[in-house]
Amino acid sequence: MAQIIDGKAVAAEVTEGVKTAAEMLKAQTGMQPGLAVVIVGEDPASKVYVANKGRTARACGFLSVEHALPDDTGQEALMGLIDELNGDPAIHGVLVQLPLPGHIDEGAVIQAIAPDKDVDGFHFTNVGKLGTGVTDSAFVPCTPAGSMLLIESVLGKDLSGKNAVVVGRSNIVGKPMFNLLLAANATVTVAHSRTKDLPGLCRTADILVAAVGRPQMIKGNWVKPGATVIDVGINRIAAPEKGEGKTRLVGDVDFDDAAEAAGAITPVPGGVGPMTIAMLMVNTIVAAYRSAG
Ligand code: GUN
Repeated sequence: MAQIIDGKAVAAEVTEGVKTAAEMLKAQTGMQPGLAVVIVGEDPASKVYVANKGRTARACGFLSVEHALPDDTGQEALMGLIDELNGDPAIHGVLVQLPLPGHIDEGAVIQAIAPDKDVDGFHFTNVGKLGTGVTDSAFVPCTPAGSMLLIESVLGKDLSGKNAVVVGRSNIVGKPMFNLLLAANATVTVAHSRTKDLPGLCRTADILVAAVGRPQMIKGNWVKPGATVIDVGINRIAAPEKGEGKTRLVGDVDFDDAAEAAGAITPVPGGVGPMTIAMLMVNTIVAAYRSAG
């Protein structure tokens, strides 16, 4: 049976470190790190994520500000709020929860966030830094950064000689994951919906990262024996075994099946999910320290 990678425990260690760093910053400069989270509309999953981000920020000793805007908020109003947050000295990190309603130009909103407050790491400046290896001053997107820490917890920092396959090519996970794995010396392939023989490709992976948003798509016989499997998916499916109308969360990996083959595997929930929020706290404390000079 595979080692189950405890993302909750690693995330708790990370946030404990952030809390200590926030106390030190306050003692040295009187500054309190500030995180602003903007949510537009009523998406239930997004609301849960945003509430968790706020709760964790407060637990780290941060100022946590939430701006919940109605679904019909216009582009200009949203851009105006971002401008305001960019100029607010009490706010060091600005995050706009995605997805945004269809009438809003998501790309324009992301590029409006000041790069030095872009704790999501989605601004072109931060994307470009990560892609060119300027990692000391880049903000790295939280989910891939957290996934890397979990991979390191199993395999160490140097992935020389390892084959990594990332399934999914999103800007939020797949592409930054590619860059991080490459920077750690892995040999990386990014697979997606047009990839030929995906099961065969996955079987070549010493490190398999699943970020496609398809419940339990990756089966046990897609997993190379002993591989490290990182499941980024969070999908809600019907769970009639729990009672009528009940649901449960599953990843993009068929966990029970894949755990038979894998050397180490992340569960859902309790794997990558808690790491995403922990890394957001890391990016915010880093932003606050940078602004302190
Ligand atoms: N929606 C899903 N994941 C993310 C994320 O990492 N950041 C933001 N802002 N929105 C998301």
